[in-house]
Amino acid sequence: MKKYVLAGAAILACATLGSGKAEATTYSYTVVATNDLGMHCVCMTFDKFVLLPPFNTLRAQVIRKGSDPSVMASPTSIRVEYSIVEDTKATLDADPYYQNWVTYAPKLFPTSQGYLPPKDASGNYQSPFTGAKLSGQMTAHSTEGWWEVKGVPAYPVIDSNGIMIDPLGGPNRNPYLTASVKAYDQATNTLLAQTTTVVPAGFGGCCSCHIQVAQNYGFPATPEGSFEAMGYLHQRDNGINIAQIDPDGDGIMGPIRCSQCHLDPAMGESTPPGYAGYPTSQYTFSDVLHRFHVQSQAVQTMDPNIATDCYKCHPGNGVNCYRGTHKTKTIGSHAIWCSDCHGDLNQRVAQNQMAYPWSDKTLPQCATCHGTTWGEGGGYLNTGIFGKYLNSRGHEDHQILCSTCHGEPHGLYPSTLAKDNQEMINLQNSSLPLGGGSCNACHTDRNYGGTPPH
Ligand code: HEC
Ligand code: HEC
Ligand code: HEC
Ligand code: HEC
Ligand code: HEC
Ligand code: HEC
Ligand code: HEC
Repeated sequence: MKKYVLAGAAILACATLGSGKAEATTYSYTVVATNDLGMHCVCMTFDKFVLLPPFNTLRAQVIRKGSDPSVMASPTSIRVEYSIVEDTKATLDADPYYQNWVTYAPKLFPTSQGYLPPKDASGNYQSPFTGAKLSGQMTAHSTEGWWEVKGVPAYPVIDSNGIMIDPLGGPNRNPYLTASVKAYDQATNTLLAQTTTVVPAGFGGCCSCHIQVAQNYGFPATPEGSFEAMGYLHQRDNGINIAQIDPDGDGIMGPIRCSQCHLDPAMGESTPPGYAGYPTSQYTFSDVLHRFHVQSQAVQTMDPNIATDCYKCHPGNGVNCYRGTHKTKTIGSHAIWCSDCHGDLNQRVAQNQMAYPWSDKTLPQCATCHGTTWGEGGGYLNTGIFGKYLNSRGHEDHQILCSTCHGEPHGLYPSTLAKDNQEMINLQNSSLPLGGGSCNACHTDRNYGGTPPH
């Protein structure tokens, strides 16, 4: 088995590699990037409570082309930079929702608990969790062969052509942002390769029901009113009014985050930190939300199909975050839907999936339907979060992430969203998974397309 190339990114290099094959003396390179998830959800308001903060993660692989290509992941030889095209300091400065985040992030994620402020000393937006900015460098995972930046504070932009309907009635936004990713030679600063990829960030749909729920209980038909009502219900059923918690003791209630009491591995925690004076929940955040809503009689009355209506909460609202090739495929006589891969909410509860949320124990696998020949293979890495697909590598010697060639789990190539396919079209003039159009994005002696060995 060949090792990753840990040094020697020089454009002019010696004539042969360890394999003994003759190589061209001038190398060219390919960089392929993907977002990790099919869709990152983010909240609209932060002054009362937060489900999920701005947080996107990009991965990239750099390949030195050749008759025997090499995966490049040494930071001493290569540098990989990213930037979010649509989100600039100016657009976010002018965005009232993002400014609401900037105001309340320090209360939700205080620096006294080790979080960073949402703006650095020079006024650039950054992630309280990782320090990632709207542009910067990706970190090398040299042994695993990929590059990553975690926690980019990307936010859907207001856009006259935007497809995302704001559940609060604001202007439409664009949830499919763009990242530009560039690989440079460290020694010479030469641009080796570049690409663009989709950065998805969408609003969830809680408000579309909860404004009504608020009215039903005599609270104002506003986001604030809906939180008051949630607090009232959370007290009625569980004894804690979450709208009456004052975490920072300033005499003003909130803001709170649900994952402070309900474990959410997506927040990077393995136990919920809790609020002084209150019990934490025995249930994960994924568990309480899915289970309560599918079992509540009041929810059934509002929506008898809640068990399969995933878009009531996950970004439907014009976004249609599930948009990959399966959307056009059928099982039996119906088009493949979330519940074919994940189970509907009753099945998710019955299978106890939400005891292990965001985990390879419970997230779907390609192999369940496609068999192990095609499925997640021997290049499995457990990064502690996500499922078998995002954690697996395939192709020769298991060096290429499945998602490098196939894309995001819900935007799999060929995607029904043209923007997802652009990266593949640029690399191989085809929207098939990488290699389907041509192997020559990576191989110099294979100027044809097909199915690469998995
Ligand atoms: C299909 C409509 C619908 C959607 C979408 C929805 N809810 Fe609800 N929710 C309800 C109804 C109805 C109730 C129960 C009201 C009652 O008991 O009268 C409820 C109750 C709740 C409660 C109180 C739980 C308790 O223990 O009493 C919380 C908290 C809550 N929802 C949060 C959310 C969040 C967060 C989201 C988005 C991720 C969401 N809901 C999306 C309809 C919905
Ligand atoms: C101060 C801690 C705390 C906070 C903050 C909190 N919860 Fe809870 N929650 C609990 C406890 C405790 C229970 C009771 C169940 C248990 O003991 O695990 C509960 C129960 C629930 C249930 C009902 C679960 C069931 O068994 O039917 C829902 C739904 C829920 N919470 C949603 C939320 C949402 C949404 C938020 C944020 C908007 C939130 N909670 C914030 C502590 C909290
Ligand atoms: C009532 C709102 C609501 C509905 C309806 C809903 N979800 Fe979710 N779901 C959420 C929220 C909020 C999160 C994020 C929870 C977190 O951060 O841990 C989530 C997270 C998830 C996760 C990741 C966490 C895990 O459990 O592994 C999966 C998978 C998921 N949902 C699948 C589904 C599917 C499939 C459906 C439809 C069959 C569905 N959801 C319907 C609100 C909902
Ligand atoms: C619920 C079952 C199911 C799961 C899980 C599943 N698939 Fe599929 N997939 C299908 C079906 C059905 C088809 C259509 C097969 C056909 O038309 O012959 C398909 C087709 C495909 C195709 C061919 C697309 C085309 O346009 O020809 C690709 C590629 C693919 N799946 C990749 C994946 C990957 C990668 C995963 C895991 C992230 C996955 N699938 C998970 C059922 C599934
Ligand atoms: C073809 C199968 C398939 C369909 C259809 C599908 N998913 Fe998934 N989903 C997956 C796979 C595979 C993963 C796990 C990826 C990983 O982490 O390895 C996943 C992961 C998730 C996650 C965890 C976060 C992430 O993106 O990894 C959520 C949330 C989720 N799906 C929600 C949904 C919702 C909601 C729908 C429908 C709107 C849906 N899924 C449709 C296969 C599917
Ligand atoms: C070097 C690029 C590459 C890598 C790496 C790769 N694939 Fe593929 N895969 C493809 C191409 C190209 C096809 C053929 C797609 C087509 O012709 O529609 C394919 C086909 C598939 C199919 C079959 C779909 C069908 O038509 O039945 C599945 C499932 C699949 N891959 C899953 C995976 C998984 C899981 C991994 C990671 C362990 C992976 N792939 C790694 C490029 C790749
Ligand atoms: C994303 C980049 C990428 C694409 C696209 C790709 N490969 Fe590869 N391939 C590699 C890398 C990297 C290696 C070297 C792995 C190693 O060192 O073992 C490799 C090695 C191989 C090997 C073993 C070494 C050799 O040259 O005999 C075969 C066979 C192969 N690829 C076939 C294909 C075919 C056929 C296609 C197109 C259908 C394809 N690959 C597309 C990256 C790629």
